[in-house]
Amino acid sequence: MAFSAILKGFTIFSLSAVLALASIGSHQAHAQKQPDPSQMPWMNKSLSPDQRADLVLSQMTLDEKIQLVHGTGWGVLRKGDPVPARSNLGAGFVPGIDRLHIPDINMADSAVGIRMAALQSRYATLLPSTLGAASSWDPAAGFLYGSVIGREARAQGFNMSIGGGVDITREPRNGRNFEYAGEDPVLAGTMTGELARGVKSEHVMSDIKHYALNDQETGRTVVNVLLDKRSMRESDLLAFEVAIGIAKPSAVMCSYNLVNGNYACENDYLLNEVLKKDFNFKGFVVSDWSATHSTVKAALNGLDQEMPGDDNYFNAPLKKAVGDGQVPVARLNDMVHRILRSMFDAGVVDNPPVLRSVVDPFRGRDDAQHIAEESIVLLRNSGNILPLKASPSTSIALIGSHADVGVLSGGGSAQVDAPGGNAIDPQPGPSKWGEPVYFPSSPLRYIRAKSPQSNVQYVDGKDAAAAAKLAKASSLAIVFVNQPMSEGHDAPTLSLPHNQDALVEAVAAANPNTIVVLETGGPVSMPWAQQVKGIVEMWYPGIGGAQALSNILFGDVNPSGKLPVTFAKDDAQLPYPVVPGLKAKNAPKTVGDDQHHEVKPFDLKYYAGAAVGYKWFESTHKQPLFPFGFGLSYTTFGYSGLTVDDATRTAHFTVKNTGAREGTEIAELYVSLPSAAKENYKRLVAWQRVKLAPGESKTVSLPMNPLYLSIFDTAKDAWQLLPGDYKVMAGPSSSETPLDATLRVQQ
Ligand code: BGC
Repeated sequence: MAFSAILKGFTIFSLSAVLALASIGSHQAHAQKQPDPSQMPWMNKSLSPDQRADLVLSQMTLDEKIQLVHGTGWGVLRKGDPVPARSNLGAGFVPGIDRLHIPDINMADSAVGIRMAALQSRYATLLPSTLGAASSWDPAAGFLYGSVIGREARAQGFNMSIGGGVDITREPRNGRNFEYAGEDPVLAGTMTGELARGVKSEHVMSDIKHYALNDQETGRTVVNVLLDKRSMRESDLLAFEVAIGIAKPSAVMCSYNLVNGNYACENDYLLNEVLKKDFNFKGFVVSDWSATHSTVKAALNGLDQEMPGDDNYFNAPLKKAVGDGQVPVARLNDMVHRILRSMFDAGVVDNPPVLRSVVDPFRGRDDAQHIAEESIVLLRNSGNILPLKASPSTSIALIGSHADVGVLSGGGSAQVDAPGGNAIDPQPGPSKWGEPVYFPSSPLRYIRAKSPQSNVQYVDGKDAAAAAKLAKASSLAIVFVNQPMSEGHDAPTLSLPHNQDALVEAVAAANPNTIVVLETGGPVSMPWAQQVKGIVEMWYPGIGGAQALSNILFGDVNPSGKLPVTFAKDDAQLPYPVVPGLKAKNAPKTVGDDQHHEVKPFDLKYYAGAAVGYKWFESTHKQPLFPFGFGLSYTTFGYSGLTVDDATRTAHFTVKNTGAREGTEIAELYVSLPSAAKENYKRLVAWQRVKLAPGESKTVSLPMNPLYLSIFDTAKDAWQLLPGDYKVMAGPSSSETPLDATLRVQQ
């Protein structure tokens, strides 16, 4: 069945049938005889997760082992499919082994919050998109993000989160960029690693996905990505390496696509050689949903668990393959060991979720708002139009993007259910797959609250002439523009959809004091950028989005976010001016249509190599619209005095607040390698958020991780720190590095 149909089916699946099954399940669970955990040696918490896993494994039958390495099917995701009695109605379910006190694994899709809460009349916090959170460049915000997900997963009865997307932004039109963390492997890996660490801190198993090179939705199940090993290790796989190093995640989800001729979920190089050997990953490899394509090959090449489990590779066929020796018992034991050790490691055996509990919506909203306030990026502030001053003489025209009722969120398996339903069309129950869902955080309401005496009027922007008329009659215009994105399809272009460029141009022509607020999944082009005075990128800002935005617009919060992705001027500047494989006939016809399954298999050569994002722009001498690492503040900062200590490989420099109000600067450190590296771009190696009072200076000391300075030597199959002179640069963005100095690396 076509994937889109499967998931759309979910939306019409009968809630009462689900609940009936669930309630039967709870009766059965009560009727079961409880084992006595105190008699079980693996319940000794002083043992290591590996020791505990081995003790369980030694007691398991072949059937019990097979039971743990696959799920029970699509369940609630596909209309008419059976829902296991004990399933918590998440995306995935693996029954536990009661007699050994090994709990069920209940997996929740949770890229930006817990998905499918409405199915059980529950609430979950919508966080800002992870791309937004990456704009904070704040590891603590990443950790907080993950801890909200972990906390709410537990409160809803889940013990595993399947989020943690870290595919770097090779394709800026990718429908899932909002679920990832931008184009730089070190920034994306750090933020996502912290996120997954936050999940696990709440005794919930964490996941990092989609491994690997799953960078566009168009043809995602058939595309064969071609990339040389050096480039892969220094870019896409480095993001995973960094994240996995920080988080020690419970699981890594392998992706749908092929990489250099082999499906990612049966790819010996990706799974065995790189992930398990080089990255020393101790957790389990879980397949994306129906991304398993074989039994013996997948088992031998590193897959540990087939999900959702009804493609029938890791149940009876695996048992048979183990029986006839095609898959060694030791390999099956390794799969099971990895799953069990992750369960002990995250604490889901010792600290299971409390089933009958609820999330704290206020705590979730406060956390989401805090992250949003660090995520919003001020891109243009001509004539210091911002921050706005509350005044009775001000009249504000608020235009477009349903800014009267809410803020946009991302679709697909990252979709969180809005409380009360989609704010633009409230219906009870879960939202439809892929539809643009607005959350009830109203910019109009919060902007009015900031400036109660101002006359603030809203028009929907469908009629550009009417919007221009209101703008002309007002002292200021704020135009909201949006780019709805979802798993299942890519944006056909970087241009804003639905004639929104024309809307902005009409408003800007009517009123010179025009500010544009963007709600986008990723970068977009802005042909009108020079015609407006203010541009604010708020991404998909989450349930506290309008509050965060109004705090920024009125200066209660000084913006500090910086772009984790380059904003190109137009599609022609990208490595592929058209999304590869995207043909007009495959374009989605209606909301929710997927295009990933409608194209024939094709090869996609990443000829940009490791030069992704700002590295691509630098190596091809192109000037973007807004560079990676760029973002303004309501104050100004000066940089001085860069020195580099060769022995400790640490850079020191001073950042000064040269303006009149407190602010936080993200100070960035880049390095160009010696010419022997044959690299014609610089790399981000470190950064720091520096909070400064007016006139205050601070010395920033940034150690440079040798991994981030190294090249991957394919002949030696190892990282190598080349001897020679490295150019170290510090500054406020990738295109502005006023300071430089030399790091000398000895032979
Ligand atoms: C997505 C995964 C998701 C899974 C389960 C797949 O379509 O690619 O990210 O976790 O579905 O919903």
